Amino acid sequence: MPSSTTSEKGSASSPATFRFRCIGCASIAGSAAQDFRCAQCGNLLEITDSSWNSQNPAALKSLWRERRSLNEALDLSGVWRFRELLPVPASEEHVVTLREGNTPLYELPQSSRNTGVPRLYAKHQGMNPTGSFKDAGMTVAATFARQAGYRWVACASTGNTSASMAAYAARGGMRSLVLVPEGKISWSKLSQALDYGALTCQLRTDFDGCLRLLQELVRRAPVYQLNSINPFRLEGQKTLALELLEQLEWEPPDHIIVPGGNLGNSSAIGKALLEMLEIGLISRLPKLSVIQAEGANALVRTLRETGGKNLVSVQAETRATAIRIGNPASWEKAVKVLQATGGACEQVSEIEMAQAKAEIGAEGIGCEPASAVTLAGLKKLLQQGFVKPQETVVLVLTGNLLKDPDFTMDFHRGELFKDTAHERESAKLNSFRHPPAVLDATLEAVIKTLEQAEKSDPTQTNG
Ligand code: F0G
Repeated sequence: MPSSTTSEKGSASSPATFRFRCIGCASIAGSAAQDFRCAQCGNLLEITDSSWNSQNPAALKSLWRERRSLNEALDLSGVWRFRELLPVPASEEHVVTLREGNTPLYELPQSSRNTGVPRLYAKHQGMNPTGSFKDAGMTVAATFARQAGYRWVACASTGNTSASMAAYAARGGMRSLVLVPEGKISWSKLSQALDYGALTCQLRTDFDGCLRLLQELVRRAPVYQLNSINPFRLEGQKTLALELLEQLEWEPPDHIIVPGGNLGNSSAIGKALLEMLEIGLISRLPKLSVIQAEGANALVRTLRETGGKNLVSVQAETRATAIRIGNPASWEKAVKVLQATGGACEQVSEIEMAQAKAEIGAEGIGCEPASAVTLAGLKKLLQQGFVKPQETVVLVLTGNLLKDPDFTMDFHRGELFKDTAHERESAKLNSFRHPPAVLDATLEAVIKTLEQAEKSDPTQTNG
């Protein structure tokens, strides 16, 4: 049994101004139990702080901009730079940071042309220290774990959370316990957890089974849970939206489109947008839309079949293993922010996702499969008329291209859909494939290959 101090030593005893509010019964508490559930009704908690909306929006904007030229550790972090709207630890010494955030906002010229949306951007969270958006939340939650004196932190994961948690635990001098579904996460992510020193358990179940077990574990053992049920995670992930709006000179886009798995990220972005509106940092809300894989479409079904009232769980199946989740923990938070911002919820097929991933790769930036559902989803929302071509659209790319090399290799070798129901339809993806050529090591062979490629290049012009 790992040794640790109790949760009593946590943020509750710090002179913090923030509180935990239940999203179900709205009861407010100064501290949270280890499972981060409401003591009254068992629902999820969110963090609230009355000091946040007494801030002057113009002063905040210039303070945050000024910090970009400073060299203090907190200012170099694209998360802690926005600390006026975050829960802050009792002492700066507790902060565990890897200079997360500060991620680029890219234009997507080719996808702009293909979709007919001139103002199309990608906010690339895959450019974070461990290659995914999880780092923005992990710096905050790991900080509070350290402040509370925990020796062990733990998570259930489809891969990215575990990679991020293991890195931040290592930086913060804590041990980490990872529960992942055996055979269902990419080696790339698993290898990160190993390298950062996590105790890694591959469980013979799916992500939902891992999360169930973790929630039981935190009630029995003194481990600090770092899944997105932990509301400190979502506070850090709010900064994606703050940084995005700063990059857009505080002119809100019309649409922000994000992949949905366990639904923590959409909840965090939505919370940030609503808080920004309340404080006066923005004057109108972007519509926040969530896209899921067809095979892992719990939120889509929850909204369509129950109007968002009851969760419809599914047996999840998709090659986008990051979002292979059938029982999303934060579904109620996500429903609330979708309804508050007027966003849509759509699903895309495996073929649509694979094509979109290749298109994002062809922009020279790339992303992991789960992130590509955003571009595939945009195409659907355009067809439905929900997104208009003249509107400004931001796709949130959640993970780096290098996170799932097996998917990318299988795609380019034409093996991704082999022996699946999609095999025949996948022929239409052939023009997106760039399989490696295996040649004799001669100049002639390379020149011949180059000439053939030049002849068949559809982008070739004589001008
Ligand atoms: N994109 C990527 C690359 C992810 O890793 C995840 C979730 C999501 C999207 C979905 O975000 O869960 O906040 O709705 N990955 C988690 C993990 C579940 O364990 O790494 P969400």
